Amino acid sequence: MNNNFDKIINHLKSQGFVFQGSEIYGGLANSWDYGPLGAELKNKLKNLWWRFFVKRNKYNIGLDTSIILNPKVWLASGHLGNFNDPLVDCKSCKSRWRADKLIEEKFPDVNAGVLSNEMLEEYISKNDISCPKCKKKDFTNIRLFDLMFKTFQGPLEDDSAKVYLRPETAQGIFVQYKNSQRTSRRKLPFGIGQIGKSFRNEITPGNFIFRTREFEQMELEFFFSPNDENNWFDYWLNQVKHFITKELGISTNNFIIREHEKDELSHYSNKTVDIEYNFPFGRGELWGIAHRSNYDLTQHQQFSGEDLTYLDQENNVRFIPHVIEPSVGVERLLLAILCESYCEEKLENNELRIILRLPIKLAPYTIAILPLQKQQSEKARTLFEDLLQYFDATIDETGNIGKRYRRQDAIGTPFCITIDFDTENDNCVTVRERDSMHQERININDLKSYLTNKSNM
Ligand code: GAP
Repeated sequence: MNNNFDKIINHLKSQGFVFQGSEIYGGLANSWDYGPLGAELKNKLKNLWWRFFVKRNKYNIGLDTSIILNPKVWLASGHLGNFNDPLVDCKSCKSRWRADKLIEEKFPDVNAGVLSNEMLEEYISKNDISCPKCKKKDFTNIRLFDLMFKTFQGPLEDDSAKVYLRPETAQGIFVQYKNSQRTSRRKLPFGIGQIGKSFRNEITPGNFIFRTREFEQMELEFFFSPNDENNWFDYWLNQVKHFITKELGISTNNFIIREHEKDELSHYSNKTVDIEYNFPFGRGELWGIAHRSNYDLTQHQQFSGEDLTYLDQENNVRFIPHVIEPSVGVERLLLAILCESYCEEKLENNELRIILRLPIKLAPYTIAILPLQKQQSEKARTLFEDLLQYFDATIDETGNIGKRYRRQDAIGTPFCITIDFDTENDNCVTVRERDSMHQERININDLKSYLTNKSNM
């Protein structure tokens, strides 16, 4: 694995951002838990998304639907039948691989996702692709592997009780589209946003938190009339780009925008554009923007028998709205932000400074209070409790001041406030900025407004 990626992963584990899932039992493959700092960062990211895409957007409203839905939803949506991956087994060591990923690992420029199963088999045999584990070249033919997680509802464990954990949050939105539109009295165009867990029995989870079987999605389904001449696809693509660059501080040099080829499109989509981020292990899909046409609502209308048409009162016509969907995984976005912000600097004294240059609004702590010596401890604690009413704050009283600055840099705290010998006399503290290491003396009475201004910059 990429050396830099290893460093980032180790850093996030050691600092309490991410823990191995079920660690004291030896872990559970590819499952991760979010530690005190990771949980904080994740919540802040979700809140930022919710604010940008739901609360501050004049068109949109929010929703929170169940993980387990009536199984007919998945029949209607096409997930039962279409939601599978092409799989090959190595006959020698019995390991199992996704055929398209095997090809892309060896030939990164090939987009194997667009190849048919026959073409994948031919490509693997003609190009001498071997098993990454045992290096033999003896694969089975491709079989399709169902990604849906299954379980049973109630006391019986037979087909009548079989239910599925949702593989996307989107279907909950489509199923509640009519209730949401009616109760909010929305006219087209309008969107419904949702954040929640999704589950996929992925064959090749991996690359740390990039691809897991349990993950969270932040999805928006934006409904509009097929006669609407606005280019809503470009509108949402631009909103996503704005969010990524301006709100999250991700550089435009680190992602590309790639349109799917026709044979690569999901069963529901007639146009999809992916934002692909340059992760340390290679380029990978970060955010998908799909034109789902009126596929989902049409399917649900047919399977449920419920009228899901919209009445355009001005023109007195009924139709099924079309949909643009920007969809992103919380953990995948988190990983991009963490890779973007991880930075190592050599200081003048040759010491290594690891910094997480997180945007201020995402940093787990905005400020850290650092009393220089034990004598300032009481004053520091009073200031800490006061500032805690307004800011996400922590206090660190152990170790020399240099070490404490490094500790806060390593978890991305933008401001450190040092209380020293002079504070008693001049009522001032030193505020040190994470990125520039610039220090400024500020009166405690002005601290709240100073920090408020700084953190809103
Ligand atoms: N509703 C559309 C949909 O689910 P998708 O491209 O399959 O489309 C959307 O998923 C986003 O969800 C992806 O761009 C990615 O950010 C995230 N995602 C998908 N599968 C994931 C997985 N196994 N682990 C983590 N994130 C995943």
